[in-house]
Amino acid sequence: MVSYVDAVTAPLRKNGQIKIHGPQAFEGMRRAGRLVAECLDMLTGEVREGVPTERIDQLVFEFAMDHGAFPATLMYRGYEKSCCTSINHVVCHGIPNDKPFRAGDIVNIDVTLLLDGWHGDSSRMYAIGEIPRRAERLIEVTYEALMRGVAVVKPGATVGDIGHAIQSYVEPQHMSVVRDFCGHGLGRLFHDEPNIVHIGRPGEGSVLKPGMFFTIEPMINLGRPHVKVLSDGWTAVTRDRSLSAQFEHAVGVTETGVEVFTLSPKGLERPPASTAA
Ligand code: MF3
Ligand code: CO
Ligand code: CO
Repeated sequence: MVSYVDAVTAPLRKNGQIKIHGPQAFEGMRRAGRLVAECLDMLTGEVREGVPTERIDQLVFEFAMDHGAFPATLMYRGYEKSCCTSINHVVCHGIPNDKPFRAGDIVNIDVTLLLDGWHGDSSRMYAIGEIPRRAERLIEVTYEALMRGVAVVKPGATVGDIGHAIQSYVEPQHMSVVRDFCGHGLGRLFHDEPNIVHIGRPGEGSVLKPGMFFTIEPMINLGRPHVKVLSDGWTAVTRDRSLSAQFEHAVGVTETGVEVFTLSPKGLERPPASTAA
């Protein structure tokens, strides 16, 4: 027997299975994904020398409120901000604070918005002023790694194919793929099955089917892949303090291939366009 509460919350739980979504869910994800992309577009002119990351967080919160959305990270497992701001050797989950951006910094801004019950999740790199050539290269390789992962998504491909596309592109360039964090299924849930690991072997792992939704969000380091989490319980940094970059898209598997839900309407996600001069 199933209680009323069980029946209505069942679609909202993790149940070990990868959910298959229909046309209305695709429509919901398109709207949530587009809103996140517009939010990241809006930030392009705001990421400047002297601006504290808290100001970015405030802009994301206001953008969400103005558009009938809610920042999914706010009050998520004790996290108290509307986005993550991960600067230089911070790999992910950097917490916005009163420290200002400095010329030469690179920063990943990761925004997840809940709109009408659907999660849009995306992140991009931004550069503050002139950045070192090696930072530029890291950003370019990381973006290309994400897009190579996206490009292999289609029915019948596997999660391992995605990881392999990323790893086999990144490692020959003497950069490394972070193992400790991965992409994730999403939809009505923020973090759902499957895990999308950014390394792998062709043909291994779950088989992709039309209607699956997930993120691909490789974190790439100039040095070794190892990370540690600081005492705040969130901020993940490279152990060797080398620079780290990340891009994230939310995608859906279609009958013939892939739909990217978080593309910038202005084409701003692609470096160097995402880097404010
Ligand atoms: N948006 C991140 C992701 O891509 C998750 C951030 S969780 C937080 O999955 F609590 F750190 F904000
Ligand atoms: Co994500
Ligand atoms: Co994210």
